[in-house]
Amino acid sequence: MELMLQFTLLLLLFCISESYNVVFSSNVTRLNIDEAQSPGVPPDFDPQFVLPQLAPSPLMPFTSVGVPKLSGKCPMNFSNVGNIMTTTAIDCWGSLAPYLANVVCCPQLEATINILIGQSSFSTGNLAINETHAQYCLSDITQILEAQGSYNQLHEICSFNPTNLTQASCPFVDLKEIENFLYNSTIIESCKSIDPVKECSHNVCENAITDVVMNMVPNNYSKPETIVDCKKIVLRWLASKLDPFDASKVFRVISSCKINKVCPLVFRDTKNVSNECGHTIKNQTTCCNALEYYITQLQDQSFVTNLQAINCASSFATSLQKANVSTNVYDTCRVKLKDFTLQDSGCLFPSLPFDVTYDQSSGIDFKCDLNDNVAAPWPTSSHPSYNTSTNLPAVPKATSNHKGELNYLLC
Ligand SMILES: *[C@@H]1O[C@H](CO)[C@@H](O)[C@H](O)[C@H]1NC(C)=O
Ligand SMILES: *[C@@H]1O[C@H](CO)[C@@H](O)[C@H](O)[C@H]1NC(C)=O
Ligand SMILES: *[C@@H]1O[C@H](CO)[C@@H](O)[C@H](O)[C@H]1NC(C)=O
Ligand SMILES: *[C@@H]1O[C@H](CO)[C@@H](O)[C@H](O)[C@H]1NC(C)=O
Ligand SMILES: *[C@@H]1O[C@H](CO)[C@@H](O)[C@H](O)[C@H]1NC(C)=O
Ligand SMILES: *[C@@H]1O[C@H](CO)[C@@H](O)[C@H](O)[C@H]1NC(C)=O
Ligand SMILES: *[C@@H]1O[C@H](CO)[C@@H](O)[C@H](O)[C@H]1NC(C)=O
Ligand SMILES: *[C@@H]1O[C@H](CO)[C@@H](O)[C@H](O)[C@H]1NC(C)=O
Ligand SMILES: *[C@@H]1O[C@H](CO)[C@@H](O)[C@H](O)[C@H]1NC(C)=O
Ligand SMILES: *[C@@H]1O[C@H](CO)[C@@H](O)[C@H](O)[C@H]1NC(C)=O
Repeated sequence: MELMLQFTLLLLLFCISESYNVVFSSNVTRLNIDEAQSPGVPPDFDPQFVLPQLAPSPLMPFTSVGVPKLSGKCPMNFSNVGNIMTTTAIDCWGSLAPYLANVVCCPQLEATINILIGQSSFSTGNLAINETHAQYCLSDITQILEAQGSYNQLHEICSFNPTNLTQASCPFVDLKEIENFLYNSTIIESCKSIDPVKECSHNVCENAITDVVMNMVPNNYSKPETIVDCKKIVLRWLASKLDPFDASKVFRVISSCKINKVCPLVFRDTKNVSNECGHTIKNQTTCCNALEYYITQLQDQSFVTNLQAINCASSFATSLQKANVSTNVYDTCRVKLKDFTLQDSGCLFPSLPFDVTYDQSSGIDFKCDLNDNVAAPWPTSSHPSYNTSTNLPAVPKATSNHKGELNYLLC
């Protein structure tokens, strides 16, 4: 079973990289594997984004593994959030989930859990699940998601355990008690019409939440983890005030601001590269081979967003420079930004939050940002690094506006 799923994934990636067909339209391009004719991309092709589409095929079954076995001991009402659960199951779809975990799957799972707990407060009056119930709830949630095709070890890849559903170290969980602190707060106004670009640069919603939490937590409790745990409680409260769809949007935007600031890839020892490329390059071929081999291994890890790829390129370059690689080897060896994402897919995700979709006829769909056919940036003393936490206002505003945005970021 495991092997078969992996094979499916490999085939899927092979399909995306080997046989896509690009159908031009004035501003949106689609990759459609089903209609594959001309492999590859024209040399001057620079589309703003592309939707890879999987052919309907027996290779991509959207299997229901059956009816979920619920414990009957979890005080959550799953019937109110059916659509969100389905979105989550597809965002964490089967064997793709580990590669979608950082950007799509886990943020969506976390949003879903906050919403479920927020909604459960209507009947329990509490913004946390107690420890006994938390075990049942986490199990019920994963049962429901798995029954709709999600990966079967979600709590592991997203590091969720029953404690994450409890109050953890936050001293407040009672809805009435918390509402006393929230009486005058601007959280709802600041968060309900969240704008991804504004949020990532000015943290309007996040700051409103932090302000409340700082007032709420008594000084003798204000350890960093208590602040974090109480922020979660306040997020659940917010979820109880918005409809599930809006709440999910707010949570995904907040997490995308964080996600895009860091490179999620794990870098191994760069010695093999610095041995070949360090100081002055002795042999360009062996240097580029070592670099290519290293990057190929990085590509087994995860899909990344365009902004994450910039961070990854920058971190990797910085560690190479520390190991005395002074030449711009990205330039020498023609390393592209898209080389930092999963295998040969060349698919950099857009920086805005999005969901994977499923359609009977087209299968699993996700967006790629093909502004990525640009050289990976090599930090220099005049351009120390492309610091995406300071440059975040340049996050593409909308998928239809992507053209040129990433180039702007790199100027
Ligand atoms: C769950 O919510 C639905 C719709 O709001 C409601 O009809 C149902 O009674 C609720 N179930 C429980 C167990 O609270
Ligand atoms: C959780 O709540 C249930 C029902 O209210 C109760 O029976 C159980 O003892 C509680 N568990 C803990 C660890 O507080
Ligand atoms: C769940 O809690 C653990 C600590 O018990 C923490 O390390 C982990 O990051 C939490 N997971 C999430 C998704 O918040
Ligand atoms: C809430 O707002 C009212 C009116 O603006 C003000 O009088 C009151 O002091 C505020 N309460 C708190 C706890 O800030
Ligand atoms: C913090 O102070 C309050 C009130 O003085 C007290 O009830 C509580 O036990 C204290 N908590 C800790 C963790 O010291
Ligand atoms: C370095 O190269 C050696 C020999 O090619 C290989 O066995 C080793 O796994 C490489 N190390 C890393 C960190 O890539
Ligand atoms: C560089 O190394 C390759 C492979 O080891 C070798 O074939 C080539 O002749 C070398 N080039 C130079 C200029 O030394
Ligand atoms: C970098 O070069 C300096 C000077 O040649 C040397 O002292 C240092 O050990 C080198 N660092 C690494 C990581 O190779
Ligand atoms: C990017 O900017 C942030 C905030 O100014 C700073 O904390 C961080 O260290 C910077 N990162 C790099 C790689 O320069
Ligand atoms: C997309 O193309 C259509 C038709 O050419 C045009 O009307 C529309 O303004 C374009 N949208 C964007 C965002 O460029």
